[in-house]
Amino acid sequence: MMKAKFFLLSLHGLFWLSSEMKQRILFVCLGNICRSPAAEAVMQQLIDRNGVGDRVAVDSAGTYGGHAGDRADSRMRRAASARGVDITHRSRQVREEDFERFDIIVAMDDNNYEALFRLAPHRDAQMKIFRFREFLRHHPDWSYIPDPYYEGHEGFELVLDLVEDGCQTMLDKILRGEDFE
Ligand code: 4NP
Repeated sequence: MMKAKFFLLSLHGLFWLSSEMKQRILFVCLGNICRSPAAEAVMQQLIDRNGVGDRVAVDSAGTYGGHAGDRADSRMRRAASARGVDITHRSRQVREEDFERFDIIVAMDDNNYEALFRLAPHRDAQMKIFRFREFLRHHPDWSYIPDPYYEGHEGFELVLDLVEDGCQTMLDKILRGEDFE
């Protein structure tokens, strides 16, 4: 009985702690013009629809800075817009200080993950890095978010399908007060 009480108390404590904190999420791909800005926009729409802007903030960046300042790829914007998602982000390169500013840094593929791992200034920063695939619930066959840049229209649709799946999982975790680990 004592154990159960302690457990419930701990759970309540955890929930209280989590719900008080704002979770800052950064999505990262290579160019920051296709996958990660799409993830940012889909997550922002979920945040707005659920009225949780005080608990979750989102941004995106790329490991490669060659598109810095650019709007998202027009094919990505068009495909997102057809689903009612507006991508307004301007590309920027990920930087070391992002490991201070964000709590959860999500790599779209393994190359992005490795680049982030090398950039992370210390072990606690490395612990903030996740792979997007960890949040896929309905797409068990995908272990990464494929780069659509050299693909046709289907590549962009696939990115949106995967991103909608993973973002919903992330939001559900946050709303339940669960930790990311
Ligand atoms: P993203 O796609 O990483 O999903 O933004 C790419 C965009 C541009 C390039 C590569 C991937 N590029 O090589 O220019």
